[in-house]
Amino acid sequence: MVVASRAKKVTTHTLQEMKQAKEKISMLTAYDYSLAKLVDGAGIDVILVGDSASNVMAGNDTTVPITLDHMIYHAKCVVNAVDRALVVVDMPFGSYQGDSKLALKSAIRILKESGGHAVKLEGGVEIVDSIKRILTAGIPVMGHLGLTPQSIYKFGTYSVRAKEEEEAKKLMSDAHALQEAGCFSVVFEKIPADLAGKVSESLEIPTIGIGGGPDCDGQVLVLHDMLGITKQFSPRFLRRYASLGDTIDSAVKQYISDIRGGDFPNSEESY
Ligand code: KIV
Repeated sequence: MVVASRAKKVTTHTLQEMKQAKEKISMLTAYDYSLAKLVDGAGIDVILVGDSASNVMAGNDTTVPITLDHMIYHAKCVVNAVDRALVVVDMPFGSYQGDSKLALKSAIRILKESGGHAVKLEGGVEIVDSIKRILTAGIPVMGHLGLTPQSIYKFGTYSVRAKEEEEAKKLMSDAHALQEAGCFSVVFEKIPADLAGKVSESLEIPTIGIGGGPDCDGQVLVLHDMLGITKQFSPRFLRRYASLGDTIDSAVKQYISDIRGGDFPNSEESY
């Protein structure tokens, strides 16, 4: 991990160098100051302020309702905590599709008001105009292909994407269109591992998988899922590294019981 350990601050160039050196890139979501501080302190390369905040923070069923103002709020909280990681902020549904001038305005607001370092947009060739316009302002762009949750009402399910040849071909050409437009990286969500490997090898920019198998250049998970805080969501690609939901449940139950039993606070915990 020569490139990653040398980087005092991770930039888009660091990620490019990591791909060239065949060093895997680590990425996690965060939406608030306290968890972002822990994740950055542990040495993650990229923090994604994902629009999954809509589900995880606000309890919505989809990512569709989250607004630009909400994303800027979460991104600012994360930026306040981060010393080393590259902070990428999701552009929410309705802030970039079909209008490249709106896309540029939204991306500028994100960078100016939150201090984030880059933005992420979902989609392929159909959003290339927006990507190119955002890039004219010097704002780095990460792409997102495969399962694109902002289009859930078009697809109807969260199932694996690009299993059929035609969709796989479209994904390959979309990935190259994003690279040619100037994206510094692209996320592949829930696509067959063979396809993700083949596209990753054919691209010069690093790919980050979530349900994209081991041959992507890096991996991302939703922090609350991998920590076991959210329990209702168990896709095959999710490895749980902790059971914080259970830990929190027993701590809160113990606290309630200590209050009810008169055990908390004791004399040392009183003035
Ligand atoms: O919003 C998010 O958390 C994401 C990841 C699933 C890549 O876009």
